[in-house]
Amino acid sequence: MKAIVVTDQAAGTAGMTLVERPEPEPAINDVVVEAHGSGFTSGELTWPSTWTDRVGRDRTPSIPGHELAGVVTALGYGTAGLSVGQRVFGLTDWTRDGTLAEYVAVEARNLAPLPGDVDFTVGASLPISGLTAWQGLFDHGGLQAGQSVLVHGAAGAVGTMVTQLAREFGAYVIGTGRAVDRQKALDFGAMEFVGLDNDTLEDVGKVDLVFDVMGGDIQKRSAGLIRAGGTLVTIAGPPEARPADGLAIDFVVESDRAQLGEIVQRVRDGRLRTNIGNVAILDDAVAALNPTERISGKTIISARP
Ligand SMILES: NC(=O)c1ccc[n+]([C@@H]2O[C@H](COP(=O)([O-])OP(=O)(O)OC[C@H]3O[C@@H](n4cnc5c(N)ncnc54)[C@H](OP(=O)(O)O)[C@@H]3O)[C@@H](O)[C@H]2O)c1
Repeated sequence: MKAIVVTDQAAGTAGMTLVERPEPEPAINDVVVEAHGSGFTSGELTWPSTWTDRVGRDRTPSIPGHELAGVVTALGYGTAGLSVGQRVFGLTDWTRDGTLAEYVAVEARNLAPLPGDVDFTVGASLPISGLTAWQGLFDHGGLQAGQSVLVHGAAGAVGTMVTQLAREFGAYVIGTGRAVDRQKALDFGAMEFVGLDNDTLEDVGKVDLVFDVMGGDIQKRSAGLIRAGGTLVTIAGPPEARPADGLAIDFVVESDRAQLGEIVQRVRDGRLRTNIGNVAILDDAVAALNPTERISGKTIISARP
């Protein structure tokens, strides 16, 4: 099969190459999925799991990309709950070969059924950004209706999901990002927008929850904006700052079939809109994931034209 591999951590996405690899075999409780759409998040090339397995052994060349939508083509020993021919989508294990390939072996529990009226490209764009937003707001952030949320990178893949879900649950949403993205963030539901390149972050006043995707100085300044009892949730690694009287939580997104179901149902009924910036076939994936101009939104790789 065709697959993208990485072997050199220092090279980042520029080190991706398109190669031939053996098709994966399903292990116990796995399925093999023919990938019709795959997503990739840049941070994974900095995570140890892309380069070493769970006991620290080198696992290069590894196939990056950890979200997909496709069709089940084989079941492993003991696999229950999914069947050959079924449309599925989900998040794959960080320490196994990923989804920038024609076929992917993945634990069945990491997948959810993909309804027939949601196309594969949309399905592939949902697991990382949708689950990250859901878990950050509700599992880790404990969002309550009526609270205010400062959403960094509000026009990005995760930020647009965070904004829409927080609005649906009755929060007041202030988005941030590059000034050029102001209208996009407002279109996805932010009620105010702070352009980090020319507005003053501190002008937003106090908030209950910060959803940080950037870390660094923006995270540190945001910690100071959190009300007593509030929470800083970050997906940018261990927190570098804590609210004076509140919690700071970092996490890495996990698969959850029930949450995938909640997310895709919202896409079907129009409550959630996905944020796809570019779609390319696997043959063009290396170039698509190394764009020469700025692309706002997710790049989805389609295994077939
Ligand atoms: N821990 C986890 O489980 C987890 C899960 C998902 C994602 N992540 C990580 O979270 C980050 C965001 O993911 P994503 O998929 O939402 O990325 P994305 O689509 O690129 O969104 C990030 C947004 O923030 C903006 N931004 C970044 N730095 C900025 C700055 N200094 N000033 C103003 N705007 C800035 C980006 O603008 P530009 O495009 O112009 O930079 C973009 O609009 C990535 O690093 C990703 O790897 C972690």
